[in-house]
Amino acid sequence: MSTDAQASRPTLLVTRRLPAAVEARAARDFDARLNADDRPLGAADLVARADGVQGILCAAGDRLNAEAIAALPAGVRILATFSVGTDHIDLAAAKARGLVVTNTPDVLTDATADIALLLMLGAARRASEGERMIRADAWTGWTPTQLLGTHLGGKRLGIVGMGRIGQAVARRARAFGMTIHYSNRKRLPAELEEGAVFHADPEAMLAVSDVLSLHFPATAQTTHWLNAARIDRLPPGAIVVNTARGSVVEDAALIAALRSGRIAAAGLDVFENEPRLHPDYRTLDNAFLLPHLGSATVETRNAMGFKALDNLDAFFAGAEPPDRVI
Ligand code: 8YV
Repeated sequence: MSTDAQASRPTLLVTRRLPAAVEARAARDFDARLNADDRPLGAADLVARADGVQGILCAAGDRLNAEAIAALPAGVRILATFSVGTDHIDLAAAKARGLVVTNTPDVLTDATADIALLLMLGAARRASEGERMIRADAWTGWTPTQLLGTHLGGKRLGIVGMGRIGQAVARRARAFGMTIHYSNRKRLPAELEEGAVFHADPEAMLAVSDVLSLHFPATAQTTHWLNAARIDRLPPGAIVVNTARGSVVEDAALIAALRSGRIAAAGLDVFENEPRLHPDYRTLDNAFLLPHLGSATVETRNAMGFKALDNLDAFFAGAEPPDRVI
């Protein structure tokens, strides 16, 4: 790259450590400020580091609420988030300020759907109890009645939110012999539905959801969507899986239901206020818990980073970013 081309590169703040190949491309094509030690930036720090940049490549832990957006230096024009979820960004505030926001859909669909199935299996087959038994050297040997779980095959899976990830979960669950029910704002065309039973009213679907998997965005309207009343509608002994966002589950209600056995087990990859999740989850043998691993594969995280950079490239070239949210 000539010195002229280098000098004209757009300035970019990258808020988190990203895979090496992504950072290398960011450093090549942008005048990039990387976060070498990966310390999560608080709002004040993020705003301070954004001084003099035109774009920010942010991620899910960055709290870009209305106040932080208002405080961003005037030169910032685009927020390219390294996530499909945009709940950490106040989109209305960003829009009012004329910021462009992009995300990374599609590339994390399969990885996240895989984790949903891992959670279903882990919860249904008591995987963490078994693993803990071995690690504690408490396994005294096989018995016919040890750690009996339940089959996924033959069970009804209720998917709330049949977007890309919901559909990918349905495809996998079918291979396990599950019957698919779903609720979604719009009914899918038959070729995408693949025999899944549509419920216009998610409340009506709860009663037929032996396993319930959540795949809708976190918004003000969906906060604590899975509450005590909705849990009560599930069949006794249902399994709950969440790979969406922790805030869509009312922890106290789910914890009470796991404790009483009303809900047989839960598989959770996301938590309200993560990483400081509700401490009672740790005390429950029937909670299978993962630390937000939905998209955590090398392939997926590279693809997410490249997608964020594609969006930034398009924006700074004066074109429409392919994954523009606003
Ligand atoms: C990401 C996610 O790992 O993309 C999302 O919305 O929840 C995760 O898969 C995380 O958000 C990284 O920013």
